[in-house]
Amino acid sequence: MAMAMAIPPSKLLFPFFLLIFHLLVLSIAQPNLLSHICSENGNFTTGSDYKSNLNNLFTSLSSDTKIDYGFYNASYGQNTDKVNAISLCRGDKNPETCRSCIKNSSQVLTQLCPKQKEAFIWYDDCMLRYSNRSIFGRMEFGPYFWMYSTDNVTEENEFHEMLNSLLGSLTDLAAVGDSRRKFAVGNETTKNNHQTMYAIVQCTPDLSTEDCGTCLNKAIELIPKCCKGRQGGRVITPSCHFRYEKDPFYDLAATTVLPPSPAPLSVLPPPPVFSPPKATADPAPLLK
Ligand SMILES: *[C@@H]1O[C@H](CO)[C@@H](O)[C@H](O)[C@H]1NC(C)=O
Ligand SMILES: *[C@@H]1O[C@H](CO)[C@@H](O)[C@H](O)[C@H]1NC(C)=O
Ligand SMILES: *[C@@H]1O[C@H](CO)[C@@H](O)[C@H](O)[C@H]1NC(C)=O
Ligand SMILES: *[C@@H]1O[C@H](CO)[C@@H](O)[C@H](O)[C@H]1NC(C)=O
Ligand SMILES: *[C@@H]1O[C@H](CO)[C@@H](O)[C@H](O)[C@H]1NC(C)=O
Ligand SMILES: *[C@@H]1O[C@H](CO)[C@@H](O)[C@H](O)[C@H]1NC(C)=O
Repeated sequence: MAMAMAIPPSKLLFPFFLLIFHLLVLSIAQPNLLSHICSENGNFTTGSDYKSNLNNLFTSLSSDTKIDYGFYNASYGQNTDKVNAISLCRGDKNPETCRSCIKNSSQVLTQLCPKQKEAFIWYDDCMLRYSNRSIFGRMEFGPYFWMYSTDNVTEENEFHEMLNSLLGSLTDLAAVGDSRRKFAVGNETTKNNHQTMYAIVQCTPDLSTEDCGTCLNKAIELIPKCCKGRQGGRVITPSCHFRYEKDPFYDLAATTVLPPSPAPLSVLPPPPVFSPPKATADPAPLLK
């Protein structure tokens, strides 16, 4: 069952003193947790097969070192106790950061949603979701949320025209990415007012080109609601997300080269079954 719910906007940037507090107290040990959702689609009980399948699935997700392109999908268990999970790292994150983020996500999600059959968690660097229903290859727009910067742009119309065109081009590039990565980054500067914007867009790579485009376009259409006049913003959904900021926030070096081709499917231990790798190592799409 697809949920359609919007979480109220949360602020991307904190007032200065809060930011300092945040840096000192929270960021030292913890990666940036953006949001989580414990779905109301049903609960499992302690000691159930579902729970042990979920544990096994998380263990195998966190310990997998064969996949190095930042997308994991896996299932564990049989019939009604089968658990399906998807995890996606931001396209510019290296395998170590990615694995660490997924490991943390699974630990934190287990604490935050201790008995839900379906749950979601989003960090800056990665997202993780699991469900008892089949979630692979499906575009899911909900639940979604957004974030925005409290800093405002000047010359709003010019800014948003350019932002829309940048995100549109990046969407086209990301959507044609292969089954390992659908991600694009780019930047633009407005002609009159010289305001620069840096942006990333990404889909889970199990989506078709068409579904990826649909997801990102729907997200971009929310800009008037989420981020109008703002120097930074994000819309985050289970299947896709975008983010833009006035300063570079992504690792350009990491985005230009896709990690080497993953090992053939046959050498991966079943279960769980991981996604089949695709042939060649292409550079990640980068807006010229
Ligand atoms: C994961 O959590 C541990 C402790 O909770 C922390 O030390 C580590 O830095 C976290 N990982 C990332 C990627 O921040
Ligand atoms: C998932 O679990 C819920 C709640 O127990 C149940 O209603 C639903 O039919 C299950 N879905 C599948 C695909 O098993
Ligand atoms: C599942 O557990 C949550 C949290 O305890 C509870 O609020 C909810 O009503 C439960 N849902 C069902 C279908 O039992
Ligand atoms: C940005 O604009 C919003 C809405 O007009 C306003 O509430 C906010 O205070 C402005 N932010 C700054 C940093 O000026
Ligand atoms: C901004 O885009 C230009 C190409 O349009 C590129 O050469 C440059 O590296 C980009 N900078 C960043 C930080 O992405
Ligand atoms: C993972 O996703 C791929 C498509 O990217 C799909 O072919 C594969 O069956 C999925 N894995 C599982 C365990 O369903």
